[in-house]
Amino acid sequence: MSKDTRHLWRAAFIGLLAVCGFIGLRTLMVPASFGSTGPYRAEAPEEEAARKELLPDQKECKPCHEARYEKLQGGAHKLVHCKHCHGTAREHVDRCKELAASGKEGKCAGPESGVTDLYKGINSAKCDKCHHPRVGPPKGFPMIDISTHPQEMGAEPTDDPAVCGECHDGHDPTP
Ligand code: HEC
Ligand code: HEC
Ligand code: HEC
Ligand code: HEC
Repeated sequence: MSKDTRHLWRAAFIGLLAVCGFIGLRTLMVPASFGSTGPYRAEAPEEEAARKELLPDQKECKPCHEARYEKLQGGAHKLVHCKHCHGTAREHVDRCKELAASGKEGKCAGPESGVTDLYKGINSAKCDKCHHPRVGPPKGFPMIDISTHPQEMGAEPTDDPAVCGECHDGHDPTP
């Protein structure tokens, strides 16, 4: 074998090693189910679907707050969701369910419960977020000026941010 042929054989050998190495590594690294249903791991869609929703659906509130749920569905606020006024409440739902399942004593709302994503004490500022007079909402959308409306409707002049509650129930606001 001439010197030049030996060079060629070496190059071919290295080439073969590279190809085998690539195939070997790829076999090790590609998950077993890759490609069986498409260009992804076959388990991936189920894994994604099983991930916990960060924003609870308000149907999740229903079993424990049936009366308020029904009231909301039956009134002018039926398109407004619990979370718009009370916060995402993920921690609240998880903690309440955990307590109910374990049968232990404890609170799942309020400062001592450790729940940070549930609000009560809904005040005029929250109502104002949606009912502030402005350009844009659909024709006929109810808008009022919170600085004058309560007095116009006959409320005593007050700084109490809960004043709307004197005449409106958040869950069924029609006065
Ligand atoms: C497993 C039952 C359960 C579920 C589900 C649940 N709650 Fe509650 N909720 C409770 C209990 C029990 C309390 C009373 C809290 C306490 O005293 O520990 C409460 C209290 C509240 C309060 C009053 C808070 C306070 O500080 O007094 C609000 C507002 C509330 N829940 C909203 C919601 C919303 C919104 C959802 C759905 C996203 C929801 N809850 C889902 C059981 C539940
Ligand atoms: C438009 C705003 C609004 C929506 C939407 C709303 N709430 Fe309320 N909620 C209020 C107001 C206002 C109060 C009474 C005053 C307060 O707690 O700040 C209240 C009080 C409550 C309380 C009693 C809190 C307490 O002081 O003991 C619970 C429980 C509650 N809501 C649950 C719900 C649930 C469950 C939903 C969804 C089905 C919901 N709310 C949707 C405005 C709202
Ligand atoms: C997330 C937005 C939102 C928030 C927050 C909100 N509302 Fe509303 N409100 C609505 C929508 C949507 C309607 C229905 C409008 C329609 O039917 O055209 C409505 C309707 C109303 C009406 C008219 C009822 C009727 O019979 O026509 C009143 C009164 C009202 N809200 C009061 C309140 C009060 C009080 C608060 C605070 C506790 C509040 N809203 C918070 C969105 C909101
Ligand atoms: C003293 C009672 C009273 C208080 C307090 C009060 N309202 Fe009203 N509100 C009414 C009455 C009554 C109506 C119906 C008026 C009408 O149909 O002309 C009304 C109507 C409304 C409407 C619907 C307006 C429309 O064009 O249909 C909204 C929105 C509203 N109020 C929000 C609020 C908010 C937000 C607060 C707190 C800042 C508040 N109200 C405080 C009595 C009150």
